[in-house]
Formats: sequence, structure tokens, C-alpha cells
Amino acid sequence: MRNLLVTGGAGFIGSNFVRHVVDHTDDAVVVLDKMTYAASPEALADLPEDRVRTVVGDVADAEVVDELVAGTDVVVHFAAESHNDNSLRDPWPFVQTNIVGTAVVLEAVRRHDVRLHHVSTDEVYGDLELDERRRFEEGSPYRPSSPYSASKAAADHLVRAWVRSMGVRATLSNCSNNYGPWQHIEKFIPRQITNLLSGRRVKLYGAGLNVRDWIHVDDHSSAVLAILDRGEIGETYLIGVENERANTEVVRAILRSLGHDEDDFDRVSDRVGHDLRYAIDPSKLRTELGWEPRFADFDAGLRDTITWYADHRAWWAPDKQRVESAYAETGQ
Ligand code: NAD
Ligand code: DAU
Repeated sequence: MRNLLVTGGAGFIGSNFVRHVVDHTDDAVVVLDKMTYAASPEALADLPEDRVRTVVGDVADAEVVDELVAGTDVVVHFAAESHNDNSLRDPWPFVQTNIVGTAVVLEAVRRHDVRLHHVSTDEVYGDLELDERRRFEEGSPYRPSSPYSASKAAADHLVRAWVRSMGVRATLSNCSNNYGPWQHIEKFIPRQITNLLSGRRVKLYGAGLNVRDWIHVDDHSSAVLAILDRGEIGETYLIGVENERANTEVVRAILRSLGHDEDDFDRVSDRVGHDLRYAIDPSKLRTELGWEPRFADFDAGLRDTITWYADHRAWWAPDKQRVESAYAETGQ
């Protein structure tokens, strides 16, 4: 049994990971979360109190982080500002939380000699062409496009420097686009589902040719747990399930599932600097750690996700107008 500190554990992926730990291990979890607009404490509400304790605090607050890290065996660092469009409107929270926050975590784990797993994104590698076969690999060059992805790239570099020069015991993972329950409605899939469920129209950026490599959030969680259990210190693992889809395909599948004509969507202003294609080669994770995804059927996962949002209107509806008003300001 380990004591885990999970930063950002009330967010979309962090809360799923905490549930995964409760279901699949004997570990105890302390969640450190600032409870920003993106947090869903509701997602943790039914977890046993003797396994999961929540501390509201900022990952960039060195005193709070140091105190929590001192009593822990492993830190799993999810906390971040996570939305590209927000980073284009105001990059400063991304610099503060994603870069400064990661440095604070690194100094704390260095002082207390605690194992760290740093959760990152495939966006640090920039984008790929639509018509090339190449996919991202662990050695792909860093070429981030947005303030969000640049801040995550900076954080990854800090982690590697602390491993190499400060003796920190850390692993890293870079995952592709997640979908599933509890994802904030600012993100692509839940935005379109909740638009339709609230009588609005589906909004596709630009031509909609952009490709994302979708993974169910449960598979991301099981991969992070596999890295905690069997990953080699200093190593990076790419997480994905080889599920590339153009945005138009995803939008059409959502429209069909909810009984609409599949062409009944609006094309809106494109994202500035919009990355064209992401694609992960997950061979290292699968061969070296023996990890296998359990939710690789995207169409089934998408249908379940749509049902989940239909059943959880009380959770997302109060924030819907605010999110859509912010998008309207940029013509999206
Ligand atoms: P999210 O926005 O849903 O959740 C982020 C959580 O971090 C929230 O609970 C928020 O309150 C918390 N947080 C934000 N700033 C904080 C701070 N200063 N101190 C403490 N807590 C803070 O994000 P997510 O989609 O769950 O992403 C989690 C992690 O996974 C991020 O590091 C992200 O970069 C990475 N990631 C996300 C995806 C994806 O598709 N969503 C894919 C790959 C990697
Ligand atoms: O690849 C991993 C990354 O995936 C994570 O690091 C990020 O935290 C996560 O937000 C996600 O980033 P994206 O920018 O790819 O995801 P988003 O859901 O914002 O958009 C997915 C695609 O859909 C992208 O091409 C932009 C497009 N889009 C998005 C929205 C919100 C639309 O066409 N319409 C929309 O309304």
C-alpha cells in the first residue's frame, strides 16, 4: 500500500485516475486541487473517505506542496490549465500553474526524495501533416504551437533536468486526446454533445479536417498506473490507442447518435495556430510495460459518453451559457 499525492485530482482525468486507484489498488490518495472552474469535486464525492482525502490548494504554493509531499510515497502530477483556446485568450495562468507549479512540485519531491510521475500531452510535439505516415514517438522533437502546449513542453523539460541533474526519480507520459465522463464542456466532444442537448448547434472550427487521436480516459488512467508500477525512472511513455479521427467524422457521429442530420453543423472561426494532426505510436508502452487498452471501441465509448452527458445535465447546465458566451467573443 502506497500513499499517493494526486495534483489536479478533481479534474477530468485526475478524478478518473483517483477512482481507478481506489478500484484497482490498496493505495491511499490525497488530492491537491485548486478547484478552478475546471474542477469537479462531484466526481470524487462517492469515493471512500478512508481512501481519498481532498486538500484545496495551489500547486504553485511551495509551503502547501512541501507539507503534503513530505507525507507521501508517490506524486502523480496532473494539475494544469488544460484548454488551448483559453491559453490564446490569457496565457498567464498557464505559465503560472503549468510551469511554476511543476517547478514547485519538483523541488518538493527533490527535498523529500519522493517518486514523481509527470502527466503531459502529445501536443508538445507540435503537429503532423495529414498525408504523412509518421506518428509521434518518445524521441520526436519538441515543437509546441500554443501557449498551453508550450507551457507543458517547458514543464517536461524541467522534469528531465531535475531527473538528470538533481537526482529526482521521475517518469513522464505524453497522452493523446481524452474523452469520457466529467470532461469540461469547453472541450470539443462535450461541447458538441451539450450544444445539441441544450438546443444549440454544433460548432466546427475551420474546415474540420484536423485529426485527433482519441483515447478513453479510463485507458489513460490504467496506462499511468502501469507506468507507476512498472515504468523505469527517467523514461517517457507515449499513451494512445491508434484511433485517429478527423473532427468532421466525430461531429457527424455525435449528430447521428442524437438523431440529427449529420451535416447539420456550423463552421465557425478557426483556432489561431490550429494544430493539424496528432497521432501516437504507443509501441513502447505496450511492449515494454505490457499495457493493453480496454476501451478501444471509440464508437461505443462515444455513445456511452453521450448518454452520460444526457444523464448529468444538472452538472454541466449551470456553466453552459458562460462557456458559450466566451466562445461567441472569438466567433466560435
Ligand atoms: P482539467 O482542466 O479537466 O483539470 C485540471 C485540474 O487541475 C482541475 O481540477 C483544476 O482545478 C486543477 N488545477 C488547475 N490549476 C491548479 C493549480 N494551480 N493548483 C492545483 N490544481 C490546479 O484537465 P484534464 O483534461 O483533466 O488534464 C489533466 C492533465 O492531463 C493536464 O496536465 C493535461 O495537460 C494532461 N493531458 C490532458 C489531455 C486531455 O485530453 N484532456 C491529454 C493529455 C494530457
Ligand atoms: O492532445 C492532447 C490534448 O488534447 C490535451 O493536452 C489538451 O489538454 C486537451 O484539451 C486536448 O487539446 P485539443 O486542443 O486537441 O482539444 P479540444 O477539445 O480543444 O479540440 C479538439 C479538436 O476540435 C481541435 O482540432 C479543435 C476542434 N474544435 C474544438 C472545439 C472546442 C472544434 O472544431 N470545435 C470546438 O468547438
